Amino acid sequence: MTTTDNKVYGVTGSAGFLGSHLVDMLLARGGRVIGIDNLAYGRVENFAHHEGNPNFEFHKVDVCDAPATEALLRQCDVIIHLAAHKIPRYASALKTLEVNGQGAHNVLEAARKRHEDGLPVRVVLASTSDVYGKSPNLPFAESDNLVLGPSHVPRWAYATSKLYEEHLTFAYSDEYGFPTVLMRFFGSYGPRHHLSWWGGPQSVFISAILKGETISIHGDGLQTRTFTFVEDTVRGICACVDAQTEGCEVFNIGAASGEIAIVDFGRLVHRLTREAFPELDISAEAPLVFVPYASFSKRPYEDVRRRVPDITKSRDMLGFEAQVSLEEGLRRTIAWHRPALEQHMAQQGQAEG
Ligand SMILES: NC(=O)c1ccc[n+]([C@@H]2O[C@H](COP(=O)([O-])OP(=O)(O)OC[C@H]3O[C@@H](n4cnc5c(N)ncnc54)[C@H](O)[C@@H]3O)[C@@H](O)[C@H]2O)c1
Repeated sequence: MTTTDNKVYGVTGSAGFLGSHLVDMLLARGGRVIGIDNLAYGRVENFAHHEGNPNFEFHKVDVCDAPATEALLRQCDVIIHLAAHKIPRYASALKTLEVNGQGAHNVLEAARKRHEDGLPVRVVLASTSDVYGKSPNLPFAESDNLVLGPSHVPRWAYATSKLYEEHLTFAYSDEYGFPTVLMRFFGSYGPRHHLSWWGGPQSVFISAILKGETISIHGDGLQTRTFTFVEDTVRGICACVDAQTEGCEVFNIGAASGEIAIVDFGRLVHRLTREAFPELDISAEAPLVFVPYASFSKRPYEDVRRRVPDITKSRDMLGFEAQVSLEEGLRRTIAWHRPALEQHMAQQGQAEG
């Protein structure tokens, strides 16, 4: 393994899905990593394999705690801000707005102070493909108009919080002159995804299939997504970390091919799970159940009908292109998911009994 990287990286959300894989990759290339997470959704198991590594330290800190966050991040040459409260499909829109707004502000303030101390700093922040909202221009390019739905639909709180983060980042780069990058991720999936809706549709679909339950498809299931295997997403993050960009740049980080309707995605996950575990008595037919949006949201819900990235800019400026096919990525995800689910259920059983 190369140990040529002498930078210090600050990773917020380091116990989460993308954060823990990013920590693996940064340590593998010889960097020093300071990880921050409040463990709201992350797990210490995600980075337990780095225990005793002198190049890694973990701090259980909330990014809304400005003094603690700044003290840690002011030591870092590159700050990668991934901590966030995600889409409020079931969860709180208030938390989404507060955590994402305050967290981004505290991270950028830490960078400003380091920059004003005359030290190098680069900030790479997670945004989302959700900011394209209902834009009819497919595939979505970074300079496109963003088309969000009305404010009385709480699902737009997430895109709004990330858009606030995007504008704040542009404003900090303009005012203070340090380089920043915004990454709009398109549906990343893979080992260590959260075992609930927080981890994405594949996560709940695999669990349901393994438990012999029905697969819940929200709405009519004809909404499409493109999915990106975590290994590719993290290569994309590293490309943003290493790019020699100035000012603030926005990049789509996602797979351009493989657009798939959620209902077909449910069927694909079912087939691959069945093929992976022939010893389990998994039904030949995918047991799909269509769940109306109104049944899980007190206020109106709107879904994005199609979501496909234009990857021209990330390919040309970062040299980044996703490589892992959806079937290959799902096979690797399903292989990880089964023991993780069994362990989770055993722990739940112990806690209850
Ligand atoms: N995974 C995707 O497909 C995807 C898509 C679009 C955008 N994103 C963005 O990428 C980033 C990482 O997403 P992920 O999928 O790894 O999610 P994740 O939930 O697995 O990771 C986020 C981490 O942030 C931590 N966190 C939450 N609130 C915090 C707080 N106040 N202080 C400190 N830590 C806090 C959580 O405990 C978790 O470990 C997020 O900003 C998310 O909005 C992800």
